Amino acid sequence: MTILGTAFGMVFYLLQAVSGESGYAQNGEFEDAELDDYSFSCYSQLEVDGTQHLLTCAFDDPDINSTNLEFEICEALLNVKCLTFDKLQDMYFIKTKKFLLIGDSEIYVKLGGRNITSKKLNIVEIVKPEAPFDVRVIYRKGANDFLVTFNTSHSQKKYVKELMHEVAYRQEKKENDWMRVNLSSTKLTLLQRKLQPDAMYEIKVRSIPNANYFQGFWSEWSPTFHFRTPEITELNLLCGPVSPIIRRLWNNCARNQKR
Ligand SMILES: *[C@@H]1O[C@H](CO)[C@@H](O)[C@H](O)[C@H]1NC(C)=O
Ligand SMILES: *[C@@H]1O[C@H](CO)[C@@H](O)[C@H](O)[C@H]1NC(C)=O
Ligand SMILES: *[C@@H]1O[C@H](CO)[C@@H](O)[C@H](O)[C@H]1NC(C)=O
Ligand SMILES: *[C@@H]1O[C@H](CO)[C@@H](O)[C@H](O)[C@H]1NC(C)=O
Repeated sequence: MTILGTAFGMVFYLLQAVSGESGYAQNGEFEDAELDDYSFSCYSQLEVDGTQHLLTCAFDDPDINSTNLEFEICEALLNVKCLTFDKLQDMYFIKTKKFLLIGDSEIYVKLGGRNITSKKLNIVEIVKPEAPFDVRVIYRKGANDFLVTFNTSHSQKKYVKELMHEVAYRQEKKENDWMRVNLSSTKLTLLQRKLQPDAMYEIKVRSIPNANYFQGFWSEWSPTFHFRTPEITELNLLCGPVSPIIRRLWNNCARNQKR
């Protein structure tokens, strides 16, 4: 070691001693303490490709060198004891029909066939639904509201059918100002008077298993849908704060006006 290197080593050693960690190995090499953290997370997607299920795992630390690391799942499988994951870049996954969907499985991280860490997981409790799609917003003039609809692939599935959806919407360019609504159906009405007139809005939806047998995580967001609210007319202003009676009158005048 150079003098400078030795000095640096000493300083590092002292710092380590103070913080109570020992990252300074016998042979004088720096040992990266982080390397020992092979913690990982997984999620399942049931019936993603016909009757096939998908299980995806990844290390929590994205900088981990996973070149020689393998994942394996054992227990709660049909006909086999264990299955080895496929690897795509930093993701490990299994697509199979062999999940029992009852009871815990053990997930192993292996280096040269040796278990270096493991975790118990229940496939049905780490479900991440598919993102909803086909978000649409229709303005209903007579009702002074907007009808929001969307679709989900889960309505056609056998297992994870019951979801809670979160609809989030905001006026465009008003960052971080999302209004959020939870619902179990795929339909929602937004009152016109709760939205700014003549404004561009964006809206998106995501889903989570509705905590019965299946539990888990939020899906990705659906693609965002954009819609514009109508301008405020003189009649709107006149009938402004809408009481039911005025509302009825206004509907009448709107109808008369159309003729
Ligand atoms: C990752 O580890 C492998 C095998 O130990 C090694 O060949 C490779 O160079 C490493 N990659 C990086 C980016 O450190
Ligand atoms: C796998 O290895 C880790 C770390 O060596 C150990 O804590 C864990 O108990 C092992 N798991 C099983 C199921 O053998
Ligand atoms: C929802 O999507 C499914 C699959 O793409 C389709 O078969 C179904 O007709 C859609 N439902 C509605 C209400 O649009
Ligand atoms: C929607 O449900 C989620 C999950 O239960 C909860 O965290 C969130 O606060 C709810 N949002 C609203 C607007 O009720």
